[in-house]
Amino acid sequence: MANLWSGRFSSEPDPTAFQFGSSFRFDRRLFEDDVTGSVAWVEALAKVGVFSASDAEMVSGALRDILERGRRDPAFVDGPDEDVHAFVERQLIARAGDLGKRLHTGRSRNEQVSLDLRLYLRRRLPLLQNQIAAVVASLAKKAESAGEAVMPSYTHLRRAMPVLVSHFLLSHVAALRRDHERLGWAAHEADAMPLGSGAVAGTNYAIDTAMLARRLGFSRVVANSIDASSDRDFVAAFLHACTMTMVHLSRLSEDLIIFCDEEHAFFQLSDASSTGSSMMPQKKNPDPLELIRGKAGRLIGHLAGWMATMKGLPSGYNKDLQEDKEAVFDAEDNVSGALAALVGVVDGLELFPAKAASAASGLLLATDVADFLVAKGMPFREAHEVVGGMVQQLVAEGRDFAALSVPEWRRHSPLFDESVRAVVTPEASVRARKTPQSTQPQAVAAALADVNAWLRGVLAP
Ligand code: ARG
Repeated sequence: MANLWSGRFSSEPDPTAFQFGSSFRFDRRLFEDDVTGSVAWVEALAKVGVFSASDAEMVSGALRDILERGRRDPAFVDGPDEDVHAFVERQLIARAGDLGKRLHTGRSRNEQVSLDLRLYLRRRLPLLQNQIAAVVASLAKKAESAGEAVMPSYTHLRRAMPVLVSHFLLSHVAALRRDHERLGWAAHEADAMPLGSGAVAGTNYAIDTAMLARRLGFSRVVANSIDASSDRDFVAAFLHACTMTMVHLSRLSEDLIIFCDEEHAFFQLSDASSTGSSMMPQKKNPDPLELIRGKAGRLIGHLAGWMATMKGLPSGYNKDLQEDKEAVFDAEDNVSGALAALVGVVDGLELFPAKAASAASGLLLATDVADFLVAKGMPFREAHEVVGGMVQQLVAEGRDFAALSVPEWRRHSPLFDESVRAVVTPEASVRARKTPQSTQPQAVAAALADVNAWLRGVLAP
């Protein structure tokens, strides 16, 4: 079988080994970017006299024809080729003959594959960002419709303090906005044009790399050809951004799994986002959320695996680098799938405000009681002791603050008076917060407005 490097060898490659080293079955996903890069390369070669203007026109025409064909019919992008680069070159030679054989002048697949993957990611990253924005929009919509409903917040998975349901939902928005930004950083990392690096040492043709960068939409050119031939920091950045996103989606999923369970039941998943049991007729399982939680492990594997692949590489291109693509594509597919599934889950989420509110009252108002004493002049540490003693007694009696009469309050401290009763409700508790990042209703309304403004900004055409 013809390949791009047969000249030096006296025998055909061993088919099994060739098949093992071939990347076409997955790098065919770079087809479009490979052709885009080659069309620009033809122009660069024409500028240095490798192609006449009319030959360049002919070769680019043939490349555009290949692109058209592949777009129309994805099955066309197939064959016994070692990789997508070999495929495109074979197709070009079939169309342009000897002129096609000049395309690879001064160029190496080492820089070509780096270029293709950079182009691919810069094209695909905004789509993932839009999907994150769609989940943010769903969470924001839910937060809006939750109004002033309250629920408990947790630390150590034990009831901590009352919060607005909207505050809880927006907590996941805050993480997702960081993911959106992190994906933007990965795009910035990928935004360097590697052509002109040759196989490792540069190229003998005075390629106008600045023109090529502009032409291909890059803001800069790589700084060093040796570094460029094996730099996959942008892959690591992408995998990290995807993994971080998946970790956040996993945590959102875990929260929803817990809060939708029979014990909490603050929310209910829609039937459409749930699955049943083949044996137990009563079951309504949160499979999509569990799968997202599970897939976070897979993403962490891609990131860790890729870092391990990179760490021992000597300078210059090594075939180990071919491993980047399957990790990138699988990470992309799974994050994309998880984000798409979550939109439906969040949109279908039903809030049970009474259930959530009842879990948010009771002993988790203890800090508010302590703060009442602080407002009356008691040092906080002392107030903590006093209220701790009250809690101990209430737990033993199976009661909570709301059940105490004023004389009972005053038995614990003479600083208590009738007004303490107004303090020990979840509504009063959330209203008592004073900082912008708190669950205070006006602060949450401002946070929601900020999220909606952000959404308008990132979704603007
Ligand atoms: N399929 C290869 C990769 O993905 C393309 C670069 C091949 N370069 C080489 N010298 N074998 O990395």
